Amino acid sequence: MSKIGIFFGSDTGNTRRVAKSIAKKLGEDADAPVDVKKASVDDLLKYNALILGTPTLGDGELPGLDAGASDESWAEFLPKLKGKDLSGKVIALFGLGDQEGYGHEFVDALIFLYDVAIEGGAKVVGFWPTDGYTFEKSNAIVDDQFVGLVIDHENQSDQTDERLDAWLEEVKAELLAVA
Ligand SMILES: Cc1cc2nc3c(=O)[nH]c(=O)nc-3n(C[C@H](O)[C@H](O)[C@H](O)COP(=O)(O)O)c2cc1C
Repeated sequence: MSKIGIFFGSDTGNTRRVAKSIAKKLGEDADAPVDVKKASVDDLLKYNALILGTPTLGDGELPGLDAGASDESWAEFLPKLKGKDLSGKVIALFGLGDQEGYGHEFVDALIFLYDVAIEGGAKVVGFWPTDGYTFEKSNAIVDDQFVGLVIDHENQSDQTDERLDAWLEEVKAELLAVA
């Protein structure tokens, strides 16, 4: 059996830290998290089980140069993944955002990862309830749930660990079934 691949983008390090925490919790079931700015599409495609994480930056955007990030990130990587055959893959998403500062575009960027995963034929697991967050609007909601785990480091960092544990409990078996 191969392992779960974890790929993330991050500007100020919060998403990187969450990705590392996920990897630690998964132990031997996951490889070390990889920043997409250092990854090729083939690096990602070699995994059948994937966890992908992104913050939302700019105006509801993926991290990357256009969103004012200090380096390339998902905004530059995702167009290369778009159109690839992702059938047979199981993908779980997590996103970081700030519900108080950006409550009108809360974790919007998650939807861009979701759309590419679905278009490629992947199964997306780990939808997450919107209860417990206060925001006006988010594009990252499908069927009344976030399309992945939502972490708010600015306002609810005390809940991060608990949320990670509950979410991993939900997605782990489905990921490992195809890893
Ligand atoms: C310039 C800027 C724009 C942001 N825009 C959004 C946004 O549109 N929606 C949101 O939910 N969070 C937004 N945030 C909050 C970030 O997603 C949050 O700080 C996140 O933890 C950053 O993750 P990182 O350290 O991995 O880059 C923004 C933050 C900054 C600094």
